[in-house]
Amino acid sequence: RPGAQEWVPDDARVEALTEASHACRGCELWADATQVVFSTGPEDAGLALVGEQPGDREDREGEPFVGPAGRVLADALEAAGLDAGGVYLTNAVKHFRHVERGKRRLHKTPDVAHVRACLPWLEAELSVVRPRVVVALGATAARAVLGRPVRVGEVRGTLLDDAEGVRPEAAVVVTTHPSSLLRLRDRADRDAAFDALVADLRVAGAAV
Ligand code: URA
Ligand code: SF4
Repeated sequence: RPGAQEWVPDDARVEALTEASHACRGCELWADATQVVFSTGPEDAGLALVGEQPGDREDREGEPFVGPAGRVLADALEAAGLDAGGVYLTNAVKHFRHVERGKRRLHKTPDVAHVRACLPWLEAELSVVRPRVVVALGATAARAVLGRPVRVGEVRGTLLDDAEGVRPEAAVVVTTHPSSLLRLRDRADRDAAFDALVADLRVAGAAV
């Protein structure tokens, strides 16, 4: 698999990258998705947040983090004292991987091959935005950003100042994916997970 590289225009701003991403056939995920979901937020943001892949709502609307996980993320950013409109939001993988169960479309975690195929987009957009800090939301995003597998529980909330990976110039903070909170049934567990997410975002925000 060649990956996305041949569809990524050189020296393009985010708007042109977004436009070009519609044609991407860098892996097979485009085929079952409604549309590509690129990014949102200012091109000069000091803080970039990288999720895993668009969800069902994002796939339908063509915008990242507009569904339930996005709600959690917006709340966490606010609780961390960060302006949600001032951060750059994107995903490691730009098409929605899912399986069909009757009428429902269930999220399916992208494979390492999908992350690798889609990486040229992330590299290109981050080289335009040039954030000081990149937050990786969950294990898939962390793999994309750092270029290696990490245990989220072991590295979360630590400012990784000389992290290699997709954007070596930026510091990296790994945290949990906001959608993991949605799976917690117990209120106290959910509150604790939310507080931990907020604490990690504060670490990132303080380093911008
Ligand atoms: N989860 C993600 O990782 N990204 C989105 O855009 C939505 C949900
Ligand atoms: Fe291209 Fe990424 Fe979509 Fe695969 S997931 S087709 S690499 S944009």
